[in-house]
Order: sequence, then structure tokens, then C-alpha cells
Amino acid sequence: MPERPAFYITTPIYYASGDLHIGHTYSTVVCDAIARYKRMRGYDVFYLTGTDEHGQKVQDKAAAEGKTPREFVDGLVSKIKKLWELMDISYDKFIRTTDDYHVKAVQKIFKTLYDKGDIYKSVYKGKYCKACESFWTESQLVGGKCPDCGRDVEYAEEESYFFRLSKYAPRLRKLLTETDFLQPDSRVNEMVNNFIDKGLQDLAVSRSTFDWGIPVPFDEKHVIYVWIDALSNYITALGYGSDDESLFRKFWPADVHVVGKEIVRFHSIIWPAILMALGLPLPKKVFGHGWIKFGGQKMGKSTGNVVDPYVLAGRYGVDALRYFLLDEMPFGSDCDYSSELLVRKINTDLANDYGNLVRRTLAMSRQYFGGKVTKDGDDDEADKPFTDMIDSVGALADEDMDGLQVSKAVEDIFAVIRRANKYIDETAPWKLATDESAKPRLMRIMYNLLEAIRVSSTLLLPFFRSGPSKALGALGVGAPEEFGDNLRYGAVGKYSTTEIPAIYPRLDVNKELAELAEIAAKAEAAKKSAAKEKAAGSEAKQAESKETPPQTDSGLITIDDFAKMKLVVAEVVACERVKGSKKLLKETLKVGDETRVVCSGIAAYYTPEEMVGKKVILVSNLPPRKMCGVESNGMLLCAEKDGKVVLLTPESDIESGAEVG
Ligand code: MSP
Repeated sequence: MPERPAFYITTPIYYASGDLHIGHTYSTVVCDAIARYKRMRGYDVFYLTGTDEHGQKVQDKAAAEGKTPREFVDGLVSKIKKLWELMDISYDKFIRTTDDYHVKAVQKIFKTLYDKGDIYKSVYKGKYCKACESFWTESQLVGGKCPDCGRDVEYAEEESYFFRLSKYAPRLRKLLTETDFLQPDSRVNEMVNNFIDKGLQDLAVSRSTFDWGIPVPFDEKHVIYVWIDALSNYITALGYGSDDESLFRKFWPADVHVVGKEIVRFHSIIWPAILMALGLPLPKKVFGHGWIKFGGQKMGKSTGNVVDPYVLAGRYGVDALRYFLLDEMPFGSDCDYSSELLVRKINTDLANDYGNLVRRTLAMSRQYFGGKVTKDGDDDEADKPFTDMIDSVGALADEDMDGLQVSKAVEDIFAVIRRANKYIDETAPWKLATDESAKPRLMRIMYNLLEAIRVSSTLLLPFFRSGPSKALGALGVGAPEEFGDNLRYGAVGKYSTTEIPAIYPRLDVNKELAELAEIAAKAEAAKKSAAKEKAAGSEAKQAESKETPPQTDSGLITIDDFAKMKLVVAEVVACERVKGSKKLLKETLKVGDETRVVCSGIAAYYTPEEMVGKKVILVSNLPPRKMCGVESNGMLLCAEKDGKVVLLTPESDIESGAEVG
């Protein structure tokens, strides 16, 4: 078997200085989509992400929380890893700049550059931005402030090691202007005009005013400046500078470093210069994406909980959040986040366009052909534009993804979905279904629709997986590991479909917006009260809490009271609406070996189809009660808030009959 071509993609490594928001999530999700796409195209992909853990900012934040820097970063890293798990991120390696192998390799890199004369010792005098950990020349400041973050800068004088960046200016200029190393092109002028042509200064690459960093190996008074430490992660993660450089040999140079626009400078000027000095090949591409803004501003950690990816993914599902991020951010430019846009996109694109296409097609295939649909049947010239579109969308998406135009790829796939909905309207299968002689034609129409769903769902897998996997499962074909020939029209000749619940339920926009606003307000209030508490002094708080007597309340119950309630896990084996009632569903439950019938007022929130197969929690020792003529033997536990009702279900699978308590 021929060896699969290598593809190496990286995210920036995230500062372990605070919780990540959906802006950071974008960088990781977009890389994940590219990595998954390439894997499905048969590449041997290495997808790297990680955390940038050194520097004064981290040291200061840890101190403010009364933690050691190590404790502080460990806590954040486990949260970040959980976020990537939640967002279905398929990284191959997670590097931490505090990892031993990285520390050793960075020291080696620093020493090599020093021995070559590309690093030398001198005194730095100039303007320093503490937040960005960058020194700036007067000409680089914007209105006297840091050009990256707009904050105040301060005069600083410090003995420092310097990297001879100036020496590489001509080669860097050539790299940026004569190759397509930096994408999109719009970023090239900015780099050349604002930095290279203004005169590249040698770069301070060590600090002696704090110690949370990698020590300079031959001068322990200094720690290595965070950017040399951070940028080197792209090669140390592959084992560069260690005893085993096999991954480095296989995957370097990187195919693409994906970074946000504010750190393009570090990746397109400093990083190539370091590599030039080391005599190593340069990455093939640096791609600078735009920012997700919030009300026109770059999203910051202070914009509230609604932009917290945990909240959004938990509420709407990972598919919805990934789809929003990938579709909304056009090639290289910025986009504005709003909850309204997110909720509306879920409804129009996922629930209406895609979800409905799947639901309608499955229902029709079952109704007209018992779910068995084949390519036999009557072709029609009029189908050609539609079937050509299905057949060519794979090549179109390849082109988009090769140009890193991820949102365009998503749009091109959704164009097939929208075209398929139009095809249903044009061909009106329900009319043909009334005429026995039109059955062959109807068969081909159903086949074309199933092909459109199959090809578009397969192509969507790298972008978000849950809905497309369900759709492919319902088509009876399943989600393939690789695209192979699966993207061609006609690749599957026979379908055997099953019906499934809606893959993306519709949301009530106003209700969602009200609830998100409430969550944001609560998060804001919690933040304020946490800040207040902190200000009041944690010691005083501790003393106070020790003195506070245990709460007493006449509404409290004893454990014996609780034990009176018999809660058990039950499985819904059948479900139907109760005749004459808009609110009630009648569920037949399996509780261990027993069968029970229960009525619940949840018809407005769940369809009978959605209920079947669910494991629920039953209050099993209530006396029987007649509801609309049906005897109900117990009650299902639900949670309710502001008109939203959800069933309580076991967190992971457990047999019916299991006791709850
Ligand atoms: N630690 C450095 C990167 C070192 S790479 C060798 C850093 N970290 S960061 O945590 O501040 O940012 C990481 C990435 O998140 C950057 O690419 C940044 O652009 C991205 N985002 C942070 N906020 C963002 C938005 N609001 N929108 C899109 N991406 C943004 O920089």
C-alpha cells in the first residue's frame, strides 16, 4: 500500500492564564475541521494543539489566586482539555510548554542560536507592554500605546539576550512578498509595511525580572522570552531536539500554522527568522484568521457567560456551535457573534434546511417504498443539474479546503442540501405517489434525494459529526472513515432506510434569547459577587463560614422522609398521545420485569417517537390516578424552568429497574 502523504497542522498554543471563550474555540475548531477533512481524504495527519504556560502574566495571575504557577496552570489545562473533548476535537498531541521534553529542547535551541552568534547579550531600553510581554519601538506604538492590545506601555531597561532578527529582514521580505507563505494576502502588506520596512530591530529574548519561564541554560539569572519558548512548540512537539526525531522528519515542515490575526507578526516574521537561524525548513503556510467580535469589539474574557463555549455547546449541542463557528467566519475576515444569530442559524440551516430534508426524505422513502430504494427507476433529463451538483460537490469542497476557505466549503455543501429541498418542491413526490404508473419515477426521485443526503452528510462529517452520523445511520450506510469514492453520485445503489427523531429540533427564538440573557446576567452577578468576596478577604470569609450555624428550615426533610419515595429507572417501550388531551402522553414502561403505564403532561415538549427508547426516572409508589380516562401508575421526573421542560434521565446507561437514591 502506498504511504499516505503527511499533513501537519497546528493551532496557536493558548495562554494558560484564564478560561477560554468561543474566540479561542474558533482556532481549534477550524483546525479540527481541516485535520478531519484531510484524514478523510487519506492523509496521515498530525494535529497539534496545546498551552503556552510561561511568562509574567501567568505568574501574576497565579499569585493573585494564592497558587503556585504550576498549580494554576495545571487547573487551567485540565479545563482546556475538557473543552476540547466537549468540542469533539481530534488533536493528535497536546503540548504544554512546561513539559520536560519541550523545556530541554528549547534550551538546546537557545544554546544553538547563541553558539551561532544569532543570540547575544546586551541591555534593553525601551517601551514594554506587560500584557503582551512585548517590547516596542517608538515608531511601532499606536498613539503611544501597545499596537497589539492598545494598553499603556512603560519604559523598561533590562539586561537581556537578543536575537539578531534584523539580519533576516531581506530574506523575510522575500518570503512574504514573493511566496504565498502568509495567507490571506491582505495580511502581507501589513507585515511588510508596518514591521519589515519600518526596520526590524533585534529582539529581546530573555527576561531577568521574573522567573516563571525556561531558564537560559548557561545563565540562570535569565528566563527565555516567552515567544521563543512558545513558537518552538511546533517543532519540539515532533521531538526536535530530543533523542527521537522521527516525527520531526516525517511531519516537518508544517503544512499550515493557523493563528489569529494579532499573532500573525510572531508567526510570519519571528518564527521564520528563528528557523532560518537554525537552518531548518520553513512552514509551508501561516494562515491568519479574523476575530469573532462581540458588539463590534474583539471578544474578551469579560464579555459574559453567553459566549462561554461550555454553556453554548451544552445547550445547543456541539454540532450547532461548530457549525456556527465554521460557517459564520468568512475567509480571513472577522465576524460578529450574537446569540440571536446563533439560535436563528440553528433553526434555519440545521433544523429547517438539513434536518427537514432528512426527516421528509426518510418519511417518504418509508411511506412509498417501505424504506427500500434503489437506483432503478425512471431517470429524467431535468434531474441532471441536481445530480451533477451532488457529484461535483466533493471536488468543490476539496478546492475550498485546499485554499483554507472553510466557511465556503460548508456553504457549498449546504447548497446541495438547499437544492435538494427545492427538488422536493419541484418534483412533488406526494402527487406522484397517488399514481401507480408514476412509481418508477418516484423511485428515482427518492434515490436522488437519498444520494444528496448521503453525499452532503458524508462531506459534513469533518465539520460536525453527530447529525450527519445519525442521518447516514438512518440511510443504512453509516459514516465512512474516508471519503474515497463515497462522494460520487451513484456510489451507493441501494438504500434501506429507517426513521429517526429530528436530528436538530427547532428552537423557540424568543425563549432562548430570554434564557441566554438570564444566564449572562447570572454569570455577571456571580462574577461581581466573587470579586466582592475576594476584596473582602478570603480569610475573613472562612472565619465567618466556620461560625455560621447549620441552616435550619421547617421545609427540610429527613433522610427517612426521602427514603419513603421509591425512585427507579424505567425504559419507555411504547408511547402515544392520550386521546382528547393536548398535554398528555401515555407511556408504557419496562421497570425490570414489570410493565407499567404512566401518563405525563409533556406532549408539548416530546413527541411519542422521541420518547420510545428513553430511560427515565419513575416515582413508582404513587397511588394510581385516572387522567383523561387512562390510569396512570406513577410519575416521570422532569425539570422545569420558565416554561422549558426536560426529562431527567440516567447520566449513563443502566438497566431498567435500577433503584435511584
Ligand atoms: N499564546 C499565544 C500564542 C502562541 S502560539 C506559538 C496566544 N494565545 S491566546 O490564548 O491569547 O490566543 C490563542 C488564539 O486564540 C489566537 O490565535 C487568537 O487569535 C485566538 N483568539 C482569541 N480571541 C479570539 C477571537 N475573539 N476570535 C478569534 N480568535 C481569537 O496568543
